[in-house]
Amino acid sequence: MYRIVRKRRLNETMTWLSIEAPLIARKARPGQFIILRTDEHGERIPLTMAGHDSGKGTVDIIYAAVGRTTMLLDQLEEGDYLQDIVGPLGKPTEMEGLKRVCVVGGGTGNALALSLVYGLHENGIYIDMVAGFKSKAQVILEEELGGAVDRLFITTDDGSYGEKGFTTDKMKELIEDGNEYDEIITIGPPMMMKFVCGIAKDYGIKSVASLSAYMIDGTGMCGGCRCIVGGENKFVCVDGPDFDGALVNWDELIRRNTYYSKQEAHDRAHVCRLTGGVRYND
Ligand SMILES: Cc1cc2nc3c(=O)[nH]c(=O)nc-3n(C[C@H](O)[C@H](O)[C@H](O)COP(=O)(O)OP(=O)(O)OC[C@H]3O[C@@H](n4cnc5c(N)ncnc54)[C@H](O)[C@@H]3O)c2cc1C
Ligand code: FES
Repeated sequence: MYRIVRKRRLNETMTWLSIEAPLIARKARPGQFIILRTDEHGERIPLTMAGHDSGKGTVDIIYAAVGRTTMLLDQLEEGDYLQDIVGPLGKPTEMEGLKRVCVVGGGTGNALALSLVYGLHENGIYIDMVAGFKSKAQVILEEELGGAVDRLFITTDDGSYGEKGFTTDKMKELIEDGNEYDEIITIGPPMMMKFVCGIAKDYGIKSVASLSAYMIDGTGMCGGCRCIVGGENKFVCVDGPDFDGALVNWDELIRRNTYYSKQEAHDRAHVCRLTGGVRYND
């Protein structure tokens, strides 16, 4: 069992938890993730480690309450326990040889980018970050991200905060203005990452995308997180989550991510917001 030692609400749907998991904290690297279950009947969900503290023996996660398991997670408080956590999983983000990067985050992806930008910063890498949100109400972690990157550009789709427009508009502007990057790293909704990687390719810049796919075991055995990269089958859990953005078959990934929409909607409707109970057999 894993104790929640700190809970911080970031906005209406996003929450930051610090959890006691000393063995995982000792080995964690930026870009890696964990798989957790809230209770013994629960589903296993992957969440990126937003940070870790090997001294305190804690790992941090930042999640959006979007469905059954994240809504159940949201009902736990400081002092409560999670059933189990497996990790660290996945390959750490490769940083060797990088001098200047642009990180492009979208929505929840900006939270997932936190440990990444801390890691890049610690390695002395220059970072421009474009953090995109739908509107002001969704803007999170401005202080934390701003403290780790060299320049932070916030965009909102409706212009209610930062610059009006999409992340891709700002990224294009930065490139057009003559900023040079060894790599563009993107993390967010697959559709956004598809466009980010497409633009990077047009300008001859390498892109790396942190992919999100359905996961079950997290060990490369179940095939749940299969994606196609460079025409070959890859597993996000063991071969990723970072992949060369120019080689990802984005349309196939986006199609696979909608496979379970009906079941997810059904499950969401069966989480009781008062008790946290779920009717599993409906
Ligand atoms: C490697 C990895 C790291 C991740 N890190 C984070 C993180 O740090 N913070 C965070 O909030 N989320 C993260 N996710 C997504 C997270 O795993 C899903 O939001 C979660 O599994 C949803 O479970 P649920 O039961 O609450 O919702 P469900 O009912 O299963 O799904 C609700 C909604 O979330 C979408 N969704 C479900 N699973 C995924 C998935 N694997 N990837 C993308 N969208 C999904 C569905 O399309 C649906 O719209 C990560 C996913 C992966 C693969
Ligand atoms: S989660 Fe099973 S193969 Fe990746």
